[in-house]
This record gives sequence, structure tokens and C-alpha cells, in this order.
Amino acid sequence: MMETTADGVVHVDKEEFMQLWQSIFMSTDNLLQLCNTELYHLFPEGALNTRVQLRDGTTVRYVNLDNAATTIPLLSVLERIAAEFDTYGSVHRGAGQKSKKTTEHYEAARRTIADFLHASTENYIFFTKNTTESINLAATVWSQKSGKILVSDSEHSSNLLPWLQNEGKENILQYKTNQDGTIDIAAIEKMFQANSDIKLLAITGSSNITGYKPDIYAIAELAHKYGAKIFVDACQLLQHKQLDVLPDTDSRHIDFVAFSGHKMYAPFGIGILVGPKQFFDSSTPYQIGGGNLPYITGELEILRYNTVQTFDPGTPNAIGAIALAESITTLQQLGLEKIADYEHSLVEKAFDALQTIDGVTIYVQKEHLGTVLPFDIEGFHSKLTAEILAQEYGIGTRAGSFCTYELIRKLKGISREQDQEIAQEVRQGITKNIPAVVRASFALSNNYEDLRRFIAAVHDISKNGAEYYLPKYEQKIDGSWDAKVN
Ligand SMILES: Cc1ncc(COP(=O)(O)O)c(C=O)c1O
Repeated sequence: MMETTADGVVHVDKEEFMQLWQSIFMSTDNLLQLCNTELYHLFPEGALNTRVQLRDGTTVRYVNLDNAATTIPLLSVLERIAAEFDTYGSVHRGAGQKSKKTTEHYEAARRTIADFLHASTENYIFFTKNTTESINLAATVWSQKSGKILVSDSEHSSNLLPWLQNEGKENILQYKTNQDGTIDIAAIEKMFQANSDIKLLAITGSSNITGYKPDIYAIAELAHKYGAKIFVDACQLLQHKQLDVLPDTDSRHIDFVAFSGHKMYAPFGIGILVGPKQFFDSSTPYQIGGGNLPYITGELEILRYNTVQTFDPGTPNAIGAIALAESITTLQQLGLEKIADYEHSLVEKAFDALQTIDGVTIYVQKEHLGTVLPFDIEGFHSKLTAEILAQEYGIGTRAGSFCTYELIRKLKGISREQDQEIAQEVRQGITKNIPAVVRASFALSNNYEDLRRFIAAVHDISKNGAEYYLPKYEQKIDGSWDAKVN
């Protein structure tokens, strides 16, 4: 039974929803209709219909455009978690039935993730708490091997600092990305030609600011040609695009992959690291303690055999792992290509509409468009724009440098002299001039109504101009803004 709500959003039952979903490739009309449909069959109604209070005291339905930070859980994930608690017990420890059940489901989650990435049985799937921990784990182990790490100058801090800390500055090489953050493979090759001791190239699979996706397979091939391995931070990629690590012997094989559950519709702080068994079996574990080594003699000799448990110390986040596997199963059932198509149709329309609004700068080329839209409105500090979107329109975006400082400097044209001035201020605790942009990030949980509200809001803000808002908001020393209390 199709009904149209007062907002123009179409209400359909689950069967109709799935039919629409299945047919989105068949015509643009179907896609348009789907984007206008309530998504309660995929996400909890409460989460899609949260009402928030605005500065003037009224309430509106919250529009979440901060999905690149964290996504809301899928309904199927929440249902699975609720059922899982009935049999919840300790992992890898107890003889009781509940303990065995949870252990079984935890290990099945590992297999789901391996299958999802097409990782062979020669690879381990480690559970961590997030991408950051996965990269720290990998960096600790890589630092036990000699050689240098190659990264771009536009990496997220999570894909830079763990390498830097574990290897030391002298063992980190950086190649330059273009002004818009895109990668020139020739620049990478030059680094390999000039440095014969690169052991690993670490790269982000999809930029958290521009959505740009480098050709990781071509880059993997290049790394292998020079005897190095590749590590892909895929936490902004996998929820939108299938990543196949390819057979271990393929020259384009992706050796290491890290990602987070909370960015792909599964809550509870779960992260993944995938990498070759041989590499980890020949290394000292990242953390040790209960559960990951089978025996310690009276003489304090630590015994070890080769198992995934060596890198899985203590009691794991089993529910998080099971939730992530459930999310992956649902995304696969929906089809990642269909999801990408759906999201793209929203983001492309947002891009086209933003382009027509006076004073709006968009920091991504349409050809590289992913699910994130970095932008600014002339005359507005980025964090003020994000605050106004929240306080006046109930729209959650984010503004900042997104832990990707050099890329933000490039996008905003910040010179080295300005960089030094900002650094001088930061040393004194003044962070308000750290360069920033506003990021609206879309996901499967958004529809056209969200898009319509976002575009209307940006239009209004730009039309009103900064002078209209400045008396109503004040900036704090950290650069964020608060609405003034009347
Ligand atoms: C590209 C990229 N890498 C790493 C991270 C860190 O992810 P997590 O917070 O899940 O550790 C983020 C988070 O936004 C990211 O966007």
C-alpha cells in the first residue's frame, strides 16, 4: 500500500520496498521513487525519526549528514544483537553451552568477513576496536621488520601517526598528492625508484574529506613490483564499494586491510585487520595477556603456536564482531553496487544543487564524487556553518580538518607561512584558526527529504549572510561556535 506523507515521502510496505530496491537499476524513475521512500525497512524507525530541539525551541526530525563519522545501525543488526544476548557467554573460555554458542558465532563472524573480502585461508582476520587500533597493531608488527613506510602527504592521522610513532620520522617517506588530494601514480613510482628499502605502502582507500578513491589495485601492483606490500585503510570505502583483496599470488593483491564496524552500520566499537598469516606468525604480538598464548612454564617460558588467537588477547568484543558480520550480510543482500547507486543519486543531486547557490565553494571535482561533500559558504567560518545547520535546521554535519591536515591545507590554499602561524597559535592553546571545511556525508539511511532540507538550509544561510547570524552565535577559543543564550 503506497501512501504519500505530508512531507512528500512515500510510505510503502516491506515487500514493495524490496521490489523497488531490486529494480533500482532498471530505470531512473525507480531510483527516484526509492530515494523518496521511507527507509524504515532497513533502519529503526526511532533512529530515522529522532526529533531534536532547535535554537528557537521548536523541534524537527533530525537529518543525519555525518555518516562518514559514524553510521546508524541497521535494523537487522539490532535484531541480531537482541537475539544474540539470549545465548551470550564467554568467548574461547567456558565449557558451557552458552560459551560455546558465542564462540561459534564469534568465529563465524571472522569467516563472514574473510568471505566478504575474498581473503584466502592464508590470511588472518583480527578483531580490534576500530581502524585506528588495527593500524596501530599493524604498525607495531611492521616495525619489527627493517625498511621504510611510504605514505601520501594527505593521509588521515590514523594512517600516519601509528607508522610515525613505531618507525620514527627517518623511516617514513611521503609522496605528494595533487592540490585536490588526488594521486599521481608516477609520483609513487618515483619514490620507489629513489628508495630501494620501502617495505610497505600505506594508503587510504577512500578519502574521508573528498571521497576520492585511488586505484588501489594499480598501486598494489606497483608496490609489489618494487618488493613492497600494500596496506589499505578501507574504513571509508567498504560500506559503499566491494573490496576484493584478490588471490594472494595476484600481482594486484591487497596484502593488508583495516576498517571499522561503526562506519558500516554496526555499533559497539569493532575494527578489523586482515593480513597474511606468515607475516604475523613470525612476529611478536601487539598485546599479550590472558587467552592469546597457550602455556607459560614455571620458568616463565612463554609457549606459542601459530593461531589467530595470538593476536586476540583478553575477552573480545564478541557482540560487536557478530553485529559487523550481520551488517555485512545485509549489505551484501542489498548489493553494494545498488547501495552505491542509491547513494550516488543523492550526492550527485546535492552537488548539482550546491553548485547553484551563491557563495558556496565545493572542494571536490564531480568526477571524484563519493558520498562526502566538503564545502564552505563565503563569509562563514566552517564551524559556524555546521552549528547553524544544527541549531536552526536540525541537520547534523561536521566541520573541521578531519585529522587530515595537509589535505585541508591544500584544499584551502594555506601557505607554509600560514601553517607556521597557525602552529604558533596552537602552541599557545589557540585552535580556532586551524583550517576547516564543512562536510556533509550521505549514506544508505538518507533519502530525498534529507537532501531537500539540506539544500534549502544552505540556500537560506547563504542568502541571510554571516552578518545575520553573528549576533546570535559566539566562537569559543577552540574554534567551535555556540548559540548565544537570549
Ligand atoms: C580515512 C580514515 N581512517 C581512519 C579513521 C579512524 O577510524 P576509527 O575512528 O574507526 O578508528 C577514520 C575516521 O574517521 C577515517 O576517516
